[in-house]
Amino acid sequence: MDVLGARCHACHKEWSLSETLYDCPACHANLDICYDYESLKKKVSRETFRQHSQFSLWRYLPLLPIQKLPSMTLQIGWTPLYPGGSVHGVNLYLKDDGRNPSGSFKDRASALVLAVAQERGMTQVIAASTGNAGSSLACLGTHANMATMVFLPHTAPIAKVTQLAVFGARLFMVNGSYDDAYDLCLAASQRWGWYNRNTGYNPFTREGKKTCAYEICEQLAWRVPDWVVVSVGDGNILSGLWKGFRDLYHLNLIDRLPRLAGVQSSQSNAVAATIQRFEAGERPLHVQPVQATTLADSISVDIPRDGNMAAQAILDSQGVAVEVPDQAIRDSICTVAQRWGIFGEPAAVASYAGFEKLCQLGEIRSGETAVCVITGNGLKDVAAASSIVQDAVIRIDPDIDSLHEHLNNHAIL
Ligand SMILES: Cc1ncc(COP(=O)(O)O)c(C=O)c1O
Ligand SMILES: [Zn+2]
Repeated sequence: MDVLGARCHACHKEWSLSETLYDCPACHANLDICYDYESLKKKVSRETFRQHSQFSLWRYLPLLPIQKLPSMTLQIGWTPLYPGGSVHGVNLYLKDDGRNPSGSFKDRASALVLAVAQERGMTQVIAASTGNAGSSLACLGTHANMATMVFLPHTAPIAKVTQLAVFGARLFMVNGSYDDAYDLCLAASQRWGWYNRNTGYNPFTREGKKTCAYEICEQLAWRVPDWVVVSVGDGNILSGLWKGFRDLYHLNLIDRLPRLAGVQSSQSNAVAATIQRFEAGERPLHVQPVQATTLADSISVDIPRDGNMAAQAILDSQGVAVEVPDQAIRDSICTVAQRWGIFGEPAAVASYAGFEKLCQLGEIRSGETAVCVITGNGLKDVAAASSIVQDAVIRIDPDIDSLHEHLNNHAIL
């Protein structure tokens, strides 16, 4: 394992990983796991991965902060990257992370945190979640023989709540927002010493999420897309993607970096608003809380817990943050489903709504290549989708004349 330690994003102090570490002990900013790239360069090449027979995120074991392959056999990661054809002249790909075991991108982070927990001999892992991180922790936790406990806002969609319960996690529904659940979960882990998977707070979540960047490059035969477009809640997926691309760049496995586009609902826009203020001259770059109200529950976040690193990643990649109205997110559910056969939950297809807007704004230009990451399966929040397809349902009596009448009325015959 070529891990050097953890570095604070804000004060840059370096810390050893021998103790359980979450945020920076000196200033409480988020930590980033650091690797010995010179040593790793001697061990990994494109060929190493080409010959790999493990089609999951564990194929990247040398680049992960764990000693050995965990016992998890579910297929986590190596999700399909579909060619989406030319859209506004842009060569579009869709990375369907709804195909993970629990149906969302969050499985990448849960898998890695559980692997770390196992290596450190912990038996109880807890998390706050809008729903996906929790159902993912519950799914992979039971698979890895670990006890899990999850704190959800009371507004979490029923499918995610049900998933959690079916997988057997201990489940607390908090009378409050995701941010309230997050703080309660923090307090619980501090009081009782349970290992905490909270997004952003636990530095290993990013290490799991970065594997999506590795896959994008490998699946594109190491051609780096011009843009990677992803939705932003806490900002940890985005900061994870950036970490992954930078790892590959430092290891000379890719020769350039993509630009990252972070997409938020205009009703949950903390990171986008921060970038706007930065561009207007405000310093330092520091995310301020908002009152989130978007229908895209997974990205409905008042205080993005990895927002500062995500905002920095967008700037470092010469990328953009873009806000889209909830209506555009709703429209994208059907567009992505009907054009490419991928049913994404609102937060997942927000990336596509952002992609469309960035094409219209001329930020993403004809001739470029873009990857939209679809981060969660649409069955996770059927209520959001069913509200937009009500008119698609034609109710008829079970006889052929009734059907005939309707076919005529709808000009189908
Ligand atoms: C489906 C989906 N998309 C996007 C996100 C946003 O990820 P992050 O909070 O790391 O920005 C989440 C987070 O819960 C999610 O579940
Ligand atoms: Zn610090």
